[in-house]
Amino acid sequence: MSLASGATLLVGRSATMFGATSSTTPSLATNSVWKLGGDLPVNRLGFGAMRITGEGIWGWPPDRDNALKVLKRAVELGVNLIDTADAYGPEVSELLIAEALYPYPAGLVIATKGGNTRPGPDQWVPDGRPEYLKRCVEKSLKRLRLERIDLYQLHRIDPKVPMEESLGALKEMQTAGKIRHVGLSEVAPDEIERARKVLPIVSVQNRYNIADRKWEKTLVYCEKENLGFMPWSPVGGKRGLKPGDALEALAKAHSATVYQLALAWLLQRSPVMLPIPGTSSVAHVEENVAAAKLKLSPQEWKTIDALAGEGKEKLESKK
Ligand SMILES: NC(=O)c1ccc[n+]([C@@H]2O[C@H](COP(=O)([O-])OP(=O)(O)OC[C@H]3O[C@@H](n4cnc5c(N)ncnc54)[C@H](OP(=O)(O)O)[C@@H]3O)[C@@H](O)[C@H]2O)c1
Repeated sequence: MSLASGATLLVGRSATMFGATSSTTPSLATNSVWKLGGDLPVNRLGFGAMRITGEGIWGWPPDRDNALKVLKRAVELGVNLIDTADAYGPEVSELLIAEALYPYPAGLVIATKGGNTRPGPDQWVPDGRPEYLKRCVEKSLKRLRLERIDLYQLHRIDPKVPMEESLGALKEMQTAGKIRHVGLSEVAPDEIERARKVLPIVSVQNRYNIADRKWEKTLVYCEKENLGFMPWSPVGGKRGLKPGDALEALAKAHSATVYQLALAWLLQRSPVMLPIPGTSSVAHVEENVAAAKLKLSPQEWKTIDALAGEGKEKLESKK
């Protein structure tokens, strides 16, 4: 699809396509850039590098050259925030990022994570022991060929280890100059508050998309506190958006795809929103990056919001 045409159509046809207007309109985010940690400017639409590994996020991808192309294309298109983790592959995603992009272009922010181990395909077991985490940081530095990691995220809080101990280890690595900023993943506001007593937290990565707002309170907390919010599964993850979803008719009418509408909706939801859609396909990277250009009017945004709400109820009733 033509990206520009999609954007024009969305703006130009809003009144007729979406019908009734409302007296209360949300104030929508318009910033294309966000300063992560106050000092790292990133284009808000990033890239998630979990899907460039093998099946079950395990091992090498079936087409390694294609995975390298996906990463290069994302950066060519202006993506300068790439999310990864030592657990993706494990190791494979970080190794591929270095293979594809090192020496890194100026301004590229690689955000990695540690604290989730991988006994096998599709298996994830938290390990937040301080010594283990420190080893993880050292190994990620080596794989990514970096001297300092711009954003290191605690992948999961380990229920067996007090959060303060895990974060204390990351603080040590920060003091040693091996980590620039620290982020969290899958956390509630009270956990972020606890973490901030140990060290500064600049971002949170929680599952969030149009049909899954479980972490709404965390998003609101991040907005209030000016922390970056990286929604994972931004287009619905493995289950994904499908033909027949409520969004499809609207997307078709605008020569866009449901994925693009979902990403545009997220970007406009909040100025701190940093979606990291994951894909193993060059065409999908192109499509996803283009979504940053789609501008929804407040009425369009609200209509999509409500439609997704209906979709969510449908999904939930199937469980
Ligand atoms: N913090 C955490 O605990 C956590 C957990 C999971 C993920 N993450 C991070 O978040 C990123 C995104 O999460 P995710 O990959 O689970 O979910 P996602 O980005 O919502 O969905 C990825 C899935 O959607 C498909 N897809 C993406 N763009 C598409 C498009 N334009 N058209 C059609 N299909 C499309 C991909 O398939 P194709 O490959 O065929 O495009 C893939 O199966 C990950 O890459 C990872 O960096 C973090």
